[in-house]
Amino acid sequence: MERLDKLLSSTGRWSRKEAEQLIRSGRVTVDGVVAARREEKYPDDAVITVNGEAISAGGYTYLMLNKPAGLVSATEDPRQATVLSLLPEHLRRVGLFPAGRLDRDTVGLLLLTNDGPLAHALLSPVHHVDKIYLAEVEGVLEESDEAAFREGMVLQSGLHCLPAGLERLDESRALVTLHEGKYHQIKRMLAARGKPVRSLKRLTFGPLELDQSLGEGEWRPLTGEEIGALQEAVKPGRP
Ligand code: URA
Repeated sequence: MERLDKLLSSTGRWSRKEAEQLIRSGRVTVDGVVAARREEKYPDDAVITVNGEAISAGGYTYLMLNKPAGLVSATEDPRQATVLSLLPEHLRRVGLFPAGRLDRDTVGLLLLTNDGPLAHALLSPVHHVDKIYLAEVEGVLEESDEAAFREGMVLQSGLHCLPAGLERLDESRALVTLHEGKYHQIKRMLAARGKPVRSLKRLTFGPLELDQSLGEGEWRPLTGEEIGALQEAVKPGRP
């Protein structure tokens, strides 16, 4: 059981204050009845609507962040600021964590959620949820680099990298598609080709695409369709 204003703010769409105003103006219903009191407690599975639109309280929050450089993809760090520092206070207390890591200097799409089972499934090698990055390198990308990625690479350290996509956009920029997520993977693969990475931006994560209207450091809640697409991507039996 959770307070109604807290259930609403835990979706990431409204602050507690905004939730209070919505409830006071009669725009929130719970199980079909207009809610009158923000302190009323309801179970996680109560059907809540705001302005007639069903919202996914369900206890889980899903945010899309356009990660800026300079922050670590972690919930806490003894020395460095984390991506959670970009969120307002009320969202720092609902147990969000980044689903997967981007390096400190990598920018772009990062999913923040407190839905452990979904995040775990999305990151599991069983589902091969693809990620696409825009990479800019030093040196000139060649057809032989595309071929090396296509075939899969064994790095000097002995690390085996599955076949991956490298699609050249111009001499120094390419779209890289990974079907796995090993530590510094793109940087290591491109360094092994003699083309060190200058910058890296994640554009997609499975069915999620970075919202181009989000500036670096900005975030928004996922839409119902986006959450549904993520759940669909990890349904049992899917490759
Ligand atoms: N590969 C990298 O090298 N770094 C990232 O942040 C993501 C993929």
